[in-house]
Amino acid sequence: MSIKSLVDAYNALDKVDLRILRVMEIAHSKYIYIPYKLIVNWSKYDEEIISKSLSKLNKLKLIQRMRGPYEGYRLTFRSYDILALHTLRKMNKVVSISPTPIGAGKEAEVYVGEAPGGLKVVLKFHRTGTSSFIHVRRFRAFLKKRRHLTKLYEARLSAQMEYIALVEVFDAGGKVPEPIAANRHVVAMRYVDGLELYRVDPADPRAVLEDVEATVEAALSRGIIHGDLTQYNVLVAGDEAYVIDWPQWVPIHHPNASEILSRDLIELNNYFKKYNIEINIEKINKIMNEYKEKVSPEHMSKLFTDALNILER
Ligand SMILES: Nc1ncnc2c1ncn2[C@@H]1O[C@H](COP(=O)(O)OP(=O)(O)OP(=O)(O)O)[C@@H](O)[C@H]1O
Ligand SMILES: [Mg+2]
Repeated sequence: MSIKSLVDAYNALDKVDLRILRVMEIAHSKYIYIPYKLIVNWSKYDEEIISKSLSKLNKLKLIQRMRGPYEGYRLTFRSYDILALHTLRKMNKVVSISPTPIGAGKEAEVYVGEAPGGLKVVLKFHRTGTSSFIHVRRFRAFLKKRRHLTKLYEARLSAQMEYIALVEVFDAGGKVPEPIAANRHVVAMRYVDGLELYRVDPADPRAVLEDVEATVEAALSRGIIHGDLTQYNVLVAGDEAYVIDWPQWVPIHHPNASEILSRDLIELNNYFKKYNIEINIEKINKIMNEYKEKVSPEHMSKLFTDALNILER
């Protein structure tokens, strides 16, 4: 379904429909297919109203009906899109979303929207797990109980981890899109009016490289290494450069931190070869080692614990 029909579907929903989606979301932690009776009991509306709503949601492809031993329903991925969008609206973080995505790949779909006051924002709907924290034991344990929701919770973890990195790096003065909110598998951030580095020939490539370098250092000061720093994840806006796409970040205390950081920097240097400029990798590695001493591992694990706590709520 295109986002137009997602937005259309969202606009077609009333209070009852949204309530049923929410009830089903909660029930999904226990059931793959949620018994009709449970939906009735939990949503506290007349059966007639609920029946009508369920067939409407079914038609909109927001739920799926089970053909099997009992009457049961499950949510589709797009109903989670709607729940996230609805929550962001309720939080007054987003007032509208435009119908066509500006980016749609395997890992995320990105839409432009508007925040109160007319601020242009980006809504990044995570589709898969790209967080480097996916293999952490506590997250695996949490998933065990919800195996049928693995993909969704991996997408949620990625969104939370990306949001955390944006908050930290932005706060440290790095050039990243200003984070606005995160809900479920969606991150809202400020829109950067620019183009990916690989698509532009910057007037001042050195200024771009210096911006990226400064952002890498700001991230290190918070114990964060990007982990996928390429010309595809740098947005050039005028003479400024912003680093985007942070879900796979790794903590500075990671056993492979140094290799991951070097890989990021080598990738960039390869790209900037055509301009005869480069980042001094040795210097950045030194800076990393300094911050390794300063940033407490407890602070880093707290960031991760916070993200998990949000997921487990
Ligand atoms: N804050 C932003 N402002 C403007 N454009 C953005 C912003 N964030 C993302 N985009 C656009 O969306 C695209 C994809 O974003 P991002 O790199 O964060 O996701 P991704 O995981 O690479 O997604 P995909 O798998 O779809 O490539 C970017 O290349 C850029 O064009
Ligand atoms: Mg990207």
